[in-house]
Amino acid sequence: MALVTMTDMLQKAKGEKYAVGAFNIVDYNSLRAVVQVAEALKAPVIVQTSVKTVRFWGPSTIVSWLREIASESPIPVALHLDHCKEVDYIKTCIDAGWTSVMIDASAKPFEENLAATRQAAELADAAGVSVEAEMGRIVGVEDDIFVAEHDAHLADVDEAVAFCKDLNLAVFAPAIGTAHGVYKGEPKIAFDRIEEIARRTGLPIALHGGTGLADEVFRKAISLGCAKVNISTAIKYAFIDGFVDDYNANRKYEPLGPLGAQLDCVGQVVTQNIKLFGSEGKV
Ligand code: 13P
Repeated sequence: MALVTMTDMLQKAKGEKYAVGAFNIVDYNSLRAVVQVAEALKAPVIVQTSVKTVRFWGPSTIVSWLREIASESPIPVALHLDHCKEVDYIKTCIDAGWTSVMIDASAKPFEENLAATRQAAELADAAGVSVEAEMGRIVGVEDDIFVAEHDAHLADVDEAVAFCKDLNLAVFAPAIGTAHGVYKGEPKIAFDRIEEIARRTGLPIALHGGTGLADEVFRKAISLGCAKVNISTAIKYAFIDGFVDDYNANRKYEPLGPLGAQLDCVGQVVTQNIKLFGSEGKV
């Protein structure tokens, strides 16, 4: 199956009350782990890249990996750009072949966030690419974006509804109390806002900061309208630990051993989350 946008896969997920996993890959091996597992579990999947990862490898390299791996795949796969602050870079990725983009102008005041999102949405609409936008501020570090706790605030429901009204978004990411990175304490999730924003906008909701949330938090958020769950930190841990632990156990300068262990380790994280989000068997 060719690469697809997120629009149909997330509408279906919202309607049937499961979520599609959006996994931040960092290289070919992690990408391969995500797609192989999703295929084995017959699950739709979102391969997500941070801007930092795209700059590291170059856009065309990442697209060529994914086309090679996913073009023959029986499952729908979306290639999504995570948290991009620059409309110009969104254009670069759309031109290179991304099927979905996130504009993150959430640090700006309402009107400026809306204007930047509208600009990105126009580019994306013209290219047949789906769009995610953010409102409120999600605490923590997502590659080169850092939001301190005192800067984080939840999305206001009325503002969120006004924001989404004229935008053709595939999914909306309101800050609802989750955080990027490792949780320091028990996060307080504003489930009431998830429910109200999902109902009043009619949009699937993206849950950012998926690493470390309790299973019940996922289940409840998904039952209320979350249809996309982002997992990045857990992939990074599995990627490094999978390689390093295997090397430490065998102490051989034979890279294919640790690379195989890394593939398995990332694959385990993806398996566990796809099962938890209920997207197994949905293709
Ligand atoms: P985690 O790093 O907490 O898994 O969050 C991922 C994310 O939301 C990426 O946008």
